[in-house]
Amino acid sequence: MKYISVAVDGPAGAGKSTISKNVAAQLGFVYIDTGAMYRAAALYAINNGIDIKKEADILIDRLDDIKIEMKNIDGSHHVYLCGEDVSEIIRREDVSAGASSVAVIPEVREKLVAMQKKMAERDNVIMDGRDICSHVLPNAQVKIFLTASSEERARRRYKELLEKGVECDFETIKSDMEVRDKNDSSRAVSPLRVAEDATVVDTTGLDFEQSVRKIRELVENVL
Ligand code: CDP
Repeated sequence: MKYISVAVDGPAGAGKSTISKNVAAQLGFVYIDTGAMYRAAALYAINNGIDIKKEADILIDRLDDIKIEMKNIDGSHHVYLCGEDVSEIIRREDVSAGASSVAVIPEVREKLVAMQKKMAERDNVIMDGRDICSHVLPNAQVKIFLTASSEERARRRYKELLEKGVECDFETIKSDMEVRDKNDSSRAVSPLRVAEDATVVDTTGLDFEQSVRKIRELVENVL
């Protein structure tokens, strides 16, 4: 039986995960947050005192110890690192920055991409990230590049953190996001790019419901 794959790429804060999660729930697809896997790898480095930028070789030596699992429990998405549920901790800003640094290490990408491909072989999936359309699921039936202006993306991330009770500063979030965008777009391995065959959806000025409807329509076209 052939499963349907929906690939969603885009920069930080474009709304990929909230929108993808919602569309997945409406259509009965499994949502896979690949960013959470890079975040978990970064958390492993932080927890083990490994300086990601200077000690990539140590991280590569320990790749087999970085045990990452993803589980959907009652519709909510959980990420485990070495058996521990780290779904909340990986949202910390230092982990965000660390994720963008581990994501340039080819050996880390190779390991995570192999896991991601396997996940798409056993379910209808909506998978979001940076390299899904081009590398992870090049045969996906639906490919979307989701974006929004950097001002709007920083505003959304700020609001999201405030709602979670995390103390934060708008200007810091905006500049951190710009650094991460630059890292993600300029790195040598799998940089963030609009894949040739992806549909660009710009959600600047669209509210959540409108964005969800747009993505859902694109998926329903292939069902
Ligand atoms: O949620 P947000 O857009 O802030 O980021 P994320 O999707 O959780 O991803 C965190 C970091 O992981 C990104 O800044 C990328 O550097 C990296 N990443 C990647 O390189 N490839 C992916 N498929 C997903 C994330």
